[in-house]
Amino acid sequence: MKKRTLAIASDHGGVELKQSLTIYLQESGTEVADLGTNGSESVDYPDYAQKLSEWVEKNPGNMGILICGSGIGMSIAANRNPNIRAALCHDGLSASLSRRHNDANVLCLGARLIGIETAKDCVNEFLNSEFEGGRHQKRIDKLSILQRESQ
Ligand code: RB5
Repeated sequence: MKKRTLAIASDHGGVELKQSLTIYLQESGTEVADLGTNGSESVDYPDYAQKLSEWVEKNPGNMGILICGSGIGMSIAANRNPNIRAALCHDGLSASLSRRHNDANVLCLGARLIGIETAKDCVNEFLNSEFEGGRHQKRIDKLSILQRESQ
């Protein structure tokens, strides 16, 4: 796995998977900033999506992982930020494509929908796949244009 700094965050629905993935990543030599939550108390996913999105925006080139029960709330919330491209993935192929075609900088996972082995596959593909540019860059540029026009 490539050496890069990653941030990870979850709500209460994703906290156990977050802890397992953090240990897995650290053991693979990846530096991980754990932005919470760290208990079973109910919290709101937009708060953690925002915290992680701000971290990613301040650390260009770095990436984040967001986990909630389904991954859906986290992906909706993170994509409110203009510089975040958050991808909700359920297998290694979708995680790889999210990097290669969409230049995703945040991986969203649903802890109640996938197990730890699938989550590891998603993380490995996400971290080891590179954006292919070319025709995909033009489409990413259009996302930024849409964003500016809607403001
Ligand atoms: C929390 O119960 C749950 O709604 C949340 O983790 C997430 O699945 C929302 O999209």
